[in-house]
Amino acid sequence: MTTPTYVGAVDLAGAAREDALDVMARLVRHYQDKTTDLADGQWREPVRNYLDPALFRTEVERIHHGVPLALALSCELAGPNTYKAIDVAGTPVLITRDGDGQVHAMINACRHRGAEILGEGTGQTRRLTCPYHSWSYDLKGCLTGIYGEKTFGPVDRTERSLITLPAEERAGVVFVGLTPGVAFDLDTWLGPALPLLETLRLDGCHHHSTRVLNGPNWKIVVDGYLEGYHFASLHRTTVFKTNLSNMATFDALGAHQRNVFALRAIAGAVGTPPTDWEPATCTGPILFLFPGLAIAGGLRHQTAVSLVMPGRTVGESRTQQLILLRRAPVDDEEVKAADQARDWFHDVVLDEDYLTGEGVQRGLAATEDTDYLFGRNEPGVQHFHRVLRDFTNS
Ligand code: FES
Ligand SMILES: [Fe+2]
Repeated sequence: MTTPTYVGAVDLAGAAREDALDVMARLVRHYQDKTTDLADGQWREPVRNYLDPALFRTEVERIHHGVPLALALSCELAGPNTYKAIDVAGTPVLITRDGDGQVHAMINACRHRGAEILGEGTGQTRRLTCPYHSWSYDLKGCLTGIYGEKTFGPVDRTERSLITLPAEERAGVVFVGLTPGVAFDLDTWLGPALPLLETLRLDGCHHHSTRVLNGPNWKIVVDGYLEGYHFASLHRTTVFKTNLSNMATFDALGAHQRNVFALRAIAGAVGTPPTDWEPATCTGPILFLFPGLAIAGGLRHQTAVSLVMPGRTVGESRTQQLILLRRAPVDDEEVKAADQARDWFHDVVLDEDYLTGEGVQRGLAATEDTDYLFGRNEPGVQHFHRVLRDFTNS
């Protein structure tokens, strides 16, 4: 398997460059001292919190149905008259971009007798036509056409429109509220994560590919995105070839967080002036938007985005893995490079992270009355569970 090379793609300027250099300076110090950012103490997490169906329902209700959820990247709905259909913990969601470029979201269930209007995935369409009896809706969800209406009898078009959900697009990400009629305040929710998200300039990216991974409990999966303590062991022949292990910065950003891992190239920066530093090749940032969006790659040409969602039961999750490029490939060579990045990312995450996660899942029931211990060197995992605890009182 070819390890991907890290290529910077966007020139950093102003506050974004200051921030990237500040993070890199922290990592250079860690490299010299053989240290990493630390939490104040360790954390004990009851194993049953990964297993309890009642807690799982509380999480989905208070978190996934309670906060603005990042459910799409703007570039997945590239241009007017596009859509993305996605299932979130048993809720079928349809996101559209209308002819004016405006984003909308609705429940993906026809108001006649409930058929799913579009199957999971992305595409182009001018109207939403139900496959069952051909009722049709516009991209805002308004009922516009009823097949055989004369024989069907009268239908109130307003009452029979699709159930809409609040949706808003910010910095290249589409956020959806899964509770109809409950608006959200995105600026307050994103807080200090917003400027970092804006810095990534995802709104100008090209969507290259999406792959879906089925996995264990969604928190087992998310935990793995929030620490680099496992690189030397689990990813010895893959990620560890480019990344150092157990060496990262951590920044809490409200409910969200950023972990930046030291790449091997950072060795060359020691003793050189920061004006010569190239953060894109020496640092590996993951910006995590709670509860399940991990954006890896910073300002490189290729960005790998993981969208982790609970499945329909406590023991299942689904992850969409997206590869974004700074611009569409211009020739076969570039397509091949992007395909390679897609396959590498998929294989490593599936064969190493998710395989391990399935093993954790298998051991849950037998260890239900014990707890896990999160180290001081796993501040991201601790922060995630602190936020979870605040939402669920668990
Ligand atoms: S269920 Fe959609 S038209 Fe009948
Ligand atoms: Fe991993």
